[in-house]
Amino acid sequence: MAKAKKSPTAAVKTKKLASVEVNSSSEAHTRASHSIEPAKGKLGVMIPGMGAVATTFVAGVEAVRKGIAHPIGSLTQMGTIRLGKRTDGRSPKINEFVPLAGLDDLVFTGWDIFEDNMYAAARNAGVLERDLLDKVKARLSAITPMKAVFDHNYVKKIDGPNVKKGKNKMELAEQLRQDIRDFKKSSRASRLITIWCASTETFIKATPAHQSVKSLEKAMLQNDKNIAPSMIYAYASLMEGVPFANGAPNLTVDIPAMLELAREREVPICGKDYKTGQTLIKTVLAPAFKARLLGLSGWYSTNILGNRDGEVLDDPGSFKTKEESKLGALEHILQPALYPELYGNIFHKVRINYYPPRGDNKEGWDNIDIFGWLGYPMQIKVDFLCRDSILAAPIVLDLVLFLDLAQRTPELRRLGIQEWLSFYFKSPMTAPGLYPEHDLFIQLMKLKNTLRYLKGEELITHLGLEYYD
Ligand SMILES: NC(=O)c1ccc[n+]([C@@H]2O[C@H](COP(=O)([O-])OP(=O)(O)OC[C@H]3O[C@@H](n4cnc5c(N)ncnc54)[C@H](O)[C@@H]3O)[C@@H](O)[C@H]2O)c1
Repeated sequence: MAKAKKSPTAAVKTKKLASVEVNSSSEAHTRASHSIEPAKGKLGVMIPGMGAVATTFVAGVEAVRKGIAHPIGSLTQMGTIRLGKRTDGRSPKINEFVPLAGLDDLVFTGWDIFEDNMYAAARNAGVLERDLLDKVKARLSAITPMKAVFDHNYVKKIDGPNVKKGKNKMELAEQLRQDIRDFKKSSRASRLITIWCASTETFIKATPAHQSVKSLEKAMLQNDKNIAPSMIYAYASLMEGVPFANGAPNLTVDIPAMLELAREREVPICGKDYKTGQTLIKTVLAPAFKARLLGLSGWYSTNILGNRDGEVLDDPGSFKTKEESKLGALEHILQPALYPELYGNIFHKVRINYYPPRGDNKEGWDNIDIFGWLGYPMQIKVDFLCRDSILAAPIVLDLVLFLDLAQRTPELRRLGIQEWLSFYFKSPMTAPGLYPEHDLFIQLMKLKNTLRYLKGEELITHLGLEYYD
């Protein structure tokens, strides 16, 4: 594992994270379980952005609750976890192993710049069939969006009427904080989570305003243009002690000020950018090439996409944010510095083309140029006809439930960043100075070992010598 180099706090954090890495020492086999507060009462889910992903998630949860659909793709609902030796035959369901909120305990609200309720927004998104939506119409229609914090400079392709007004960005944050308190009261939720499902904001880099809580607050009071709307939601959530997940590639909580706030207040955060279609496949194929030491000379990825997300990403600023998030995975997985002959000269390109006829049904093509023994070239073509929001919805559900688990677990919440949730993200957040793990199966092992660790179970190393004693 790479070492955190920067601040002493990073070093402390790395030490803590190291204890949940795969560990083959006998010390790892004798841990006590950690205290996890019970999942008592309702869990309120607050969603900035009630578009395709958010409505597909909420309508799906309602349909599963009614028993008319299965939560396919959700690790928390369908996944199992092996405990002990392969011969022990212990593989409980994850939601029976750790105390997660039940689907019946979830209550929802959201913010959007449009006034459509969840039912109308779901119809408009065109992901789920009308027949299914009508069966959950009563619940969906009851969820109307609160006024959003929005800045057209950050999302150039859309504009809407349902927007808050305020003297400055701090005042807007105060209004969001009031929304959060009001929802907690009206829903009688005992705990809350915020999960960003709003449009991708334009590309920005961290500035001095983002370096500390103090500078962030000053910048908000001064209406600094570098404070994005998503940061105002994140600030309001963290100040209210509410965990925040970032499903888009925006900078949002990936700045020192938010890390400081999350650690100071012991509120879990994670991000960024749900790992759904093309990047999911990329983070499965690339580790296979590296495992077999097959070289890579080029990877050309292109997409056609016709939903509102596609329209927003047609703007070069928003696309740049997405591009950065999509490009990082290959380099981290293939480690060209360690394997210069194999991965030292890769041409990697990612395109997204807005093509309205396809709606949410994206088509992603990958052309992969690899080379093998003695440098002989080969090609792989992938044509993934996927459904963006169908892939994203179970990720939203899992993140909501796992972030709530983190919030109830002192050992996790005090870390701030929840790196064990990297599994769900294109561009996972890590402690400063630590490179992210992108390999899907390492990420899954990290997630499951974290759960085993919390419950005092043996970490699974796959060493397996004991079977031959
Ligand atoms: N679907 C996927 O596979 C996938 C994968 C990774 C990331 N994402 C990201 O998830 C986000 C949502 O995707 P989607 O397909 O639902 O998009 P969408 O356009 O259908 O929905 C986004 C919604 O956010 C609203 N919005 C924009 N700015 C807002 C603000 N400041 N406050 C409140 N609401 C705001 C828009 O009005 C819209 O209703 C996007 O950022 C997308 O890039 C999606």
